[in-house]
Amino acid sequence: MSQPDEYTYRSATPLDFPAIRQILVEVGMGEATPEQMLEGHVACAGGQVAGFIRVYHGYVYPVAVAPKWQGQGLGRFLTERALAEQGQLKLVSCTPAQPFYEAMGFSRIPMSEVDPEIAHDCEVCPDRATCTPQAYTKSVQK
Ligand SMILES: CC(C)(COP(=O)(O)OP(=O)(O)OC[C@H]1O[C@@H](n2cnc3c(N)ncnc32)[C@H](O)[C@@H]1OP(=O)(O)O)[C@@H](O)C(=O)NCCC(=O)NCCS
Repeated sequence: MSQPDEYTYRSATPLDFPAIRQILVEVGMGEATPEQMLEGHVACAGGQVAGFIRVYHGYVYPVAVAPKWQGQGLGRFLTERALAEQGQLKLVSCTPAQPFYEAMGFSRIPMSEVDPEIAHDCEVCPDRATCTPQAYTKSVQK
């Protein structure tokens, strides 16, 4: 089994599309367009693409780790690499992922501080009825 110091992080390429699509389907996140995938980065573990992160206008949108790789530090690895590149990240998290962001030291912010485009996507999300969305942010020195 790979350790976090063996994980690699790089920009997504078209060769990664099948693996990214599979991860998004496996975690129930549906489709991403080729443009969205190319805006993202992948984490590789054990010689395969095991996680995907896309930062859109400063927002994590989305981060996903293949189920068989979850709980092994890959979500933290992806998010910390993106944060180191960006300096600041914001996001709106669905209920099940909130403990992940809290474990990573993200701070809660009011939805009123969220970009209206992102907040709107959240309002029309089909999971809205069962989700208590929470906005978060974290900054680091670049
Ligand atoms: C959320 C997700 C990205 C986390 O990835 P992961 O690789 O399993 O997380 P990690 O192993 O890197 O965990 C990082 C930290 O978060 C904590 N954590 C992760 N999930 C947790 C949970 N459900 N409850 C409590 N703590 C959790 C871990 O204990 C770990 O803490 P530590 O580093 O202090 O020991 C992954 O579960 C996933 O892809 N979920 C489905 C998609 C999703 O919900 N994405 C977020 C969209 S808002």
